[in-house]
Amino acid sequence: MQIIRTAAEMQEISAHWQPTIKVGFIPTMGYLHAGHLSLISRAKEECDVVIVSIFVNPAQFGANEDLGNYPRDLDRDLSLMGPLNVDYVFFPTGEMMYPAGYKTWIEVKGISDILCGASRPGHFIGVATVVLKLVNIVRPTLMYMGEKDYQQVAVLETMLRDLNVPTTIVRCPIVREEDGLAMSSRNKYLDSDQRVQALCLANAIRLAQKQFLAGNHDPQSLIELMSDLIIGENGSIDYIRFVDPIDLADVQSIKSDTRIILAVYIGKTRLIDNSAVLA
Ligand code: PAJ
Repeated sequence: MQIIRTAAEMQEISAHWQPTIKVGFIPTMGYLHAGHLSLISRAKEECDVVIVSIFVNPAQFGANEDLGNYPRDLDRDLSLMGPLNVDYVFFPTGEMMYPAGYKTWIEVKGISDILCGASRPGHFIGVATVVLKLVNIVRPTLMYMGEKDYQQVAVLETMLRDLNVPTTIVRCPIVREEDGLAMSSRNKYLDSDQRVQALCLANAIRLAQKQFLAGNHDPQSLIELMSDLIIGENGSIDYIRFVDPIDLADVQSIKSDTRIILAVYIGKTRLIDNSAVLA
């Protein structure tokens, strides 16, 4: 495993990828968990070369968000990746990604402005910009991304398509703790009571799935049932929606491929989760 600290060095390497090899890339913000590792393992199975980037991207955090507190531990990340035989870890600095005079931002209109984008203005501009920069530096064939961040994948697929970038996203399933909580670096913020309360996201999804199987296809009534469950656990709802799996627009009547998608605050920690209605 080689650690690359500059974009120039990474580009020197990626400039020499042969067209016939499959280059797999996993962009991350570090503080790795089994969700990240599942993407890396899949890339190792399917690709000839695997690159992981670790960069806590300041551009995707709002002014009142957790950029300063976001967990960082490179040694821990490297030891977790050790057994996976990652070829390159790209670990740039903020000054390197956004040097003085930096001026260019990528905006994927519409799909970036709803759901998480409505609560976190500018967030997806930061995500799209950093991912396009990383893709230009790494030049991957395949980019492995988790459906945990369902809207993020939709935004980035749109960006790659619209800008003719020859990289394809491989969507990977959400990895969960044994009790159902979706793994996230932000789960570290939860104290032991909040860790229990945080189950309300996965439990609310399960409730909706059961109701759907029992014949209730009405988004509004399911959103009310889910809200009651979440509020009963002291969760504070940012949004709960039933959306089309491709364009993420609200649906009027729920079908089996409709996506349940939600964001909930547990204390100050904002957690997200999603699932197909028929999983
Ligand atoms: P980060 O939150 O570190 O996530 C990196 C990748 O891991 C994303 O594709 C995310 O969807 C995936 N992931 C996180 N938790 C997962 C889980 N429980 N199961 C499966 N996959 C999971 O997402 C980002 O970083 C950033 O926005 C980034 C794309 C790196 C741009 O800065």
